[in-house]
Amino acid sequence: MSNAPSTNALAYPSDREALRAELRTLEQTPGVAKPDPILTVDRIERRFGGMTAVDVDHLQVQRGAITALIGPNGAGKTTFFNLLTGFDHPSNAASLVGSSEGKASWSFEGRQLGRTNATKVARAGMIRTFQLTKALNRMTVLENMLIGANDQPGENMFVGLVKPLWAKRERENVERAEDLLRKFKLHEKRDDMAGGLSGGQKKLLEMARALMTNPSMIMLDEPMAGVNPALTQSLLDHIQMLRDEGTTVLFVEHDMHMVRHISDWVVVMAQGKIIAEGLPEEVMTSSAVVDAYLGAHHDRDLGDDDVLTTGVIRAIATEAAEELAQEISEESR
Ligand SMILES: Nc1ncnc2c1ncn2[C@@H]1O[C@H](COP(=O)(O)OP(=O)(O)OP(=O)(O)O)[C@@H](O)[C@H]1O
Ligand SMILES: [Mg+2]
Repeated sequence: MSNAPSTNALAYPSDREALRAELRTLEQTPGVAKPDPILTVDRIERRFGGMTAVDVDHLQVQRGAITALIGPNGAGKTTFFNLLTGFDHPSNAASLVGSSEGKASWSFEGRQLGRTNATKVARAGMIRTFQLTKALNRMTVLENMLIGANDQPGENMFVGLVKPLWAKRERENVERAEDLLRKFKLHEKRDDMAGGLSGGQKKLLEMARALMTNPSMIMLDEPMAGVNPALTQSLLDHIQMLRDEGTTVLFVEHDMHMVRHISDWVVVMAQGKIIAEGLPEEVMTSSAVVDAYLGAHHDRDLGDDDVLTTGVIRAIATEAAEELAQEISEESR
C-alpha cells in the first residue's frame, strides 16, 4: 500500500468523522499501512538479559489521530515509548558502519530518528510524558513550564546546572506558558511549588509543559493514572482538543473506558509484540486481545489494578456483545 497522503488528508485534523471514515476502510491487522503516517517504525527490539521486552516488526501511526497503545502490565509499552523518544536504545540499533539489515529504524515526519538522542527527538516535534510524573517538585509551576520551552526534562536532569539557562525568561515563553496554564486551569497555581499539586494537577502540568514546544505529536504514558475522578473529564477534553487542533496523540492507558471513549485507533501490545490493531469498538473486544489480558495474569497474583483492568475488559466485551445482539435483532425485525 502506498504511503502517499490520501485525498481526505486535507479534511482532517478538524474533521474527525472524515478521519474515522478513512480508518474504517483499513484492514485491522498488526502493521497495517496508514493513509498518512506521521511515525513509521520497523524492526525495533529491546532485550533485558534473556528477556525480550519489545519486539515490534512494523507500526505506522496515523497523523492527526488519537491512537491508544494498550496491553497488559509488562507488555513493553513504556519501553517502546522510551525507544521511540531516544530515552533508551534498541538492542538491534543500527551502527554507523555495516549493513542496516535487521537493524531498528524509525522515522518521524519522514526524518530518520534511529541514531538521535532524546533532545533531538523532542526538537523534531515528538514529545512524551512519563508514567511516573516528572514534575520538578522544588520549582514553581511556571518554572516547570519554562523548562519545557527549552528541552524536555529527561530522567536525569541537573536542575541546578540548567537553571541559569531558563532563568533568562524570554517574554514569549512566559506568555505561552501563561496561556497554556490558563487553558489547563493551573494559572492560579503558577507561583506555587509543583510539589504541592495533586497527582492529577501534576499530570496536567506535564501535559501543558510538553506543549510548550508546540509538538506535532505528543505521547502520553498513562495520563489518567492517579488522577482524581473530578479531573478526568478535563484531561479527556484536553486530549481531544489537542487532536482537534491538529496534534497527533499516541497514549498508553489501562483505563478502558477512556480508550474506548476518545481513541480513533487502538494498537495492542503483548509480550513485546503488536498483536492487534484496529477500531476501538472492534479490537478491544476481539478474543485475541481479551486472551492477552487474561493470559498475562495466569502466572501471578492479581493486584487490585489488574482485577480492575481485567474486570473492565470483560464488562466491555459483554456490553459490546449485547449491543451487537440488539442491532442484529433490530435489523431482522
Ligand atoms: N530497565 C529495565 N531492566 C530490566 N527489565 C526491564 C527494564 N525496563 C523494563 N523492563 C522489563 O521489560 C518488560 C516491559 O516493561 P514495560 O515497563 O515496558 O511494560 P509496560 O507495558 O509499560 O507495563 P505497565 O503497563 O505495567 O506500565 C517488563 O517485563 C519489565 O520488567
Ligand atoms: Mg508502562
